[in-house]
Amino acid sequence: MFSSFTAPGLTVTFFDYGGLRINYDATITAQLREHGALLDPRLLYATPIASRLWLRRSARISPHSRLMREYRRAVADFMVPLMGERTLSIVDLGVGDFQRSSLLLRQVLAQPERRLHYAMVDISEHLLHAAVVRDADDEQSVLRRIGESGSVRALRLDFLELARWQHVLPDVPPRYFFLLGNTLANEVDDQQTLTCIAGALNQDDVLFLELQMREPAPLTPEQLSERFRENTDFYSAPLAGLGYTADDVDLVARVISGEHCDLVSVHCIVRPFRGRGPMSIDAENDYKVMTIRKYTEAGIDQLLAAAGLERVGLHATEPSDAMPIVMGYVSATRRR
Ligand SMILES: C[S@@+](CC[C@H](N)C(=O)[O-])C[C@H]1O[C@@H](n2cnc3c(N)ncnc32)[C@H](O)[C@@H]1O
Repeated sequence: MFSSFTAPGLTVTFFDYGGLRINYDATITAQLREHGALLDPRLLYATPIASRLWLRRSARISPHSRLMREYRRAVADFMVPLMGERTLSIVDLGVGDFQRSSLLLRQVLAQPERRLHYAMVDISEHLLHAAVVRDADDEQSVLRRIGESGSVRALRLDFLELARWQHVLPDVPPRYFFLLGNTLANEVDDQQTLTCIAGALNQDDVLFLELQMREPAPLTPEQLSERFRENTDFYSAPLAGLGYTADDVDLVARVISGEHCDLVSVHCIVRPFRGRGPMSIDAENDYKVMTIRKYTEAGIDQLLAAAGLERVGLHATEPSDAMPIVMGYVSATRRR
């Protein structure tokens, strides 16, 4: 279950929760037999093909984009000032390509005399390995800097299992948990996932969430579909294992507006099959490949309360014509 990665000046302990490996072939085959099925969102990241497509997609996001500028501002103005201690633990849930995490870690390390115990968590072993290897190759490696006075570990875990693996998380208080990139809102059941994560928090731990919020002027489903189509290869990743490519599918966004949360779902509509995969599926079949929730402030509070948490702070970005999306940065602790 444990192994280690070493590079000059860096040792990362890897932990893989063996035994509970998802059988992706069986999962996808069963799900593809159902018309209109919601595919397991882990299929967007955890298989080798999907993780490659995710890395390609995230590489298209410029560090100078408005989204990243807003993120940097939230880190500097909202998150880092709340992390005043010299020695602390960070549990980073769903690191993805590690870009946003490394930006955050650099800002924390820019404060004097910081000592960090850092755990990067993801369901995808490929993403974890890619992040560690890429960072170790970088002259400015942030993991190496953390390792100089603290520790680094990479944990392949499912969020739903977090409390069970408490003993492999860093335990030097205070602990800050991060769930960035609207990841919670993409889970099949956001409430269940948050409740499982909350179950791993101690009384003094702080959870930072980055969540998409409802915009004052939301895009129409047609406009959303156009935007998603720019990344058809990523959204069709669950079908890539069957030999389908971006050319074999069309993407359509559907929106359901609720009182406290809007639900955008991204659907792959399969065109007549031209690839050669291990299994063929009916043309015109419709697979829901991702759910994107957009919460109101009251919706966030409701979600937190049902998980036994309470909000401490909220920093919301200002929408603009160029970037109508509103991101909310939330800090929360266990309800006292
Ligand atoms: C939307 S990406 C966000 C990546 C990164 N935090 C960012 O902000 O760019 C979601 C990440 O969470 C991971 N993930 C999704 N569901 C998970 C689960 N149930 N358990 C562990 N990791 C999960 C994915 O593999 C992916 O790396």
